[in-house]
Amino acid sequence: MSAEIKAYLDSQGLSEAMTAAVKQVINERPANALKAVSEILMKAALAKEAKAGPFSFPSGLPDCCSASPDLYKTIAEIPGVGRLVEMIFPPGAKDAPHEHPIHSMYFVVDCKLKISGGPTPTKLGEEGGVVEVPAGAAPIFPAMAHQVENIGDKEGKAVFLEPYPNCKPCGAVEGYISPFTVSPGCYKILTEDDDWITGMLTMKVGEKDEFHHHKDHLIYVLEGDGVTIYPGGKEEDAMVVPLAPFAGIPAPMAAPPFASHTLKNTGTKELKMLFFEAKK
Ligand SMILES: [Fe+2]
Ligand SMILES: [Fe+2]
Repeated sequence: MSAEIKAYLDSQGLSEAMTAAVKQVINERPANALKAVSEILMKAALAKEAKAGPFSFPSGLPDCCSASPDLYKTIAEIPGVGRLVEMIFPPGAKDAPHEHPIHSMYFVVDCKLKISGGPTPTKLGEEGGVVEVPAGAAPIFPAMAHQVENIGDKEGKAVFLEPYPNCKPCGAVEGYISPFTVSPGCYKILTEDDDWITGMLTMKVGEKDEFHHHKDHLIYVLEGDGVTIYPGGKEEDAMVVPLAPFAGIPAPMAAPPFASHTLKNTGTKELKMLFFEAKK
């Protein structure tokens, strides 16, 4: 293989398997060599694009799920709106440098982390600062690039909402009734900014809330095993939904059961559900 071809292949950022495949095609020189090579390169370009995820940061850094798919997983998504990412860090785990858009977080357990880059005063690549976050903390972080290591002796677990760059407002809802206003015993605002609310729903077994509306929201089940939704508040349309802790549920307002309803805890355990809801 000529030095030019080798340099070209090296510059394409192909995986080892892809590079080996291209080299084999070139060495064997079959009649359809050009087509075979172009197919391999096309496949590699598509894989690269898929790996880049829905974000493209000016820094060129990947998003968290692309950088460290073993530690960050998208567990719910509303296309064109945003995604709910669960981060599970075994003790000693360290992710690859990555970048986030502004994101609303919730820490499921206490976490002791060493972070180089935001939100510590250090820069990415420098020795990180130590951050201890208690379970239940719900900070909203600005867009930032960093690298995170779990220096605690327990598994770290958090979830966060990352809005997509093309996220558009849901628009006004006629006669909008907020769950936080109508059932304050069940719904609490943990934190909010101009665009998103981080809310917590708690409901005892057999408890039911008042009729309310929602905009696009993404739910994370913390506790509970079942709930009944009454879309539009109608008893006759009752939908029984089994739940399991740590499930992510996309709840777009385009889907009628999520747009307006009453809710009853018809399970056998107290219900505790975190949700990130669009305000606009
Ligand atoms: Fe991160
Ligand atoms: Fe609701």
